[in-house]
Amino acid sequence: MERMYEGKAKIVYRTEDPERVLMRFKDDATAFNGQKKGAIADKGRVNAGISAAVFRYLEGEGIVTHYLAQPAPDELTVRHLTMLPLEVVVRNRAAGSFSRRLGIEEGRAFSAPVVEFYLKDDALGDPLLNRHHIRALGLAEEGEADRLEEQALRINELLRRYFAARDLELVDFKLEFGRAAGELILGDEITPDTCRLWQVGSGERMDKDRFRRDLGGVEEAYQEVFRRVVPQGEKRED
Ligand code: TMP
Repeated sequence: MERMYEGKAKIVYRTEDPERVLMRFKDDATAFNGQKKGAIADKGRVNAGISAAVFRYLEGEGIVTHYLAQPAPDELTVRHLTMLPLEVVVRNRAAGSFSRRLGIEEGRAFSAPVVEFYLKDDALGDPLLNRHHIRALGLAEEGEADRLEEQALRINELLRRYFAARDLELVDFKLEFGRAAGELILGDEITPDTCRLWQVGSGERMDKDRFRRDLGGVEEAYQEVFRRVVPQGEKRED
């Protein structure tokens, strides 16, 4: 199969159908814009399975996603999107770059979720953008920034509920959107690489911060999230 694109955590292949692509999830892990490199054993399978389950849930709640099928444990077939060069981050508590940049202790709760936009540009280190920047740079069409924010907030409500039912608090997460047939569609992945998930009660980190911060128990945390999201026996491959 022809490789269209290789990122830090996934490879995207063309298929015979120009409207579909195949995403293969890798065990590779990077942090801090690629400065830290490593691997998380079995992450490809775990993240593909978690993404598939989360996308199916969101579809059931009326969110349009790129998800089509999971042909293998570490692969998803998805709609071929033209991606917006943006990352949309939603935060329910201060953590990570928010805490660092603004000097706020990690874990401080917000009265309302915070939505942020970042430019996807590794050479620039994915800088923070506001709506004026998005408009000035022509990164999205008129009104699309509003649509993205609305969608991200709706997805936040759905995902908070979904993870809370699995004893995980959704602290923050990153989304990427693209277009197909004029429609704005949720793409990329939703996994412990792209979400902060804290164990309800203890606050134990159950996400990529274990890798970023050398906390140990990285594989175990990913496996545990997988177990809670993809119950045994529900291993569908379609
Ligand atoms: P941050 O606190 O480092 O800005 O991260 C916010 C959220 O976005 C966190 O859940 C991790 C996720 N994220 C990505 O998925 N990709 C990235 O490149 C970065 C920096 C963060």
